Amino acid sequence: MQSKKEIEKYVASKYVVDNLIFDDLIVGVGTGTTVNIFIELLSEKVNTDDLSIVCVPSSIETKLLLTQKGLTVSDIIENSEVDIYVDGADIVTENYDLIKGGGGAMTMEKILASSAHEFIVIIDSEKYPKELLSHPVPVEIIPLAVNTVIKPLFELGGELKLRYGTGKIGPIISDNGNVLGDVVFREEYNPKNMEKAINNIPGIIENGLFPEKADKIVIGIDNSVNYIETERIRKNK
Ligand code: 5RP
Repeated sequence: MQSKKEIEKYVASKYVVDNLIFDDLIVGVGTGTTVNIFIELLSEKVNTDDLSIVCVPSSIETKLLLTQKGLTVSDIIENSEVDIYVDGADIVTENYDLIKGGGGAMTMEKILASSAHEFIVIIDSEKYPKELLSHPVPVEIIPLAVNTVIKPLFELGGELKLRYGTGKIGPIISDNGNVLGDVVFREEYNPKNMEKAINNIPGIIENGLFPEKADKIVIGIDNSVNYIETERIRKNK
């Protein structure tokens, strides 16, 4: 039997495939377990409806899955703009700011999100609403700068923890050949200012703060969805 979380990831993905995917779209595709479900449903729809969709992946893992599913894959060099970008998130705050990068792919994810006409986020109900402090901020660091970034991050209020996994000794290396870490903050911060401040540290390539970047958020809640158009809500505030 599927867990509540799996059902919610499925209904959020299905909502996007049924309502926001059309013929001839260039679709940026994120990374993670939620996106994997989206890819499965997307390939079914492309086959059933005989659609011409080009996918631009945000990671090697996503590229592999898209290819296995027979979808047409391109890259950000050939398609420097995508019509929509669909991705998951680690948490979403009540102001619709995101933290991403649980899968270590936030650099390409942010490039795709910023090159998309529309950034659509799919999550399960456990991830919204959450406080920023409930999740560390992933960072991608040039390998030789792993020690020099510690002090400036500390001055911003963060403690760097390099990310370790299994199957390799030493910190995890990103698709881009850099070191991945997570920065733990203990005091409230402004996500827009912090996103810039972290990226201003020499040696840091990118971080997982995505403030005010999502255009649409689809939250699976049991068997239904909460569909939020963030732009409209921000304008009416
Ligand atoms: C990968 C990401 C993912 O979108 C995020 O970690 C959520 O993943 P999942 O859908 O597996 O919960 O940012 O870098």
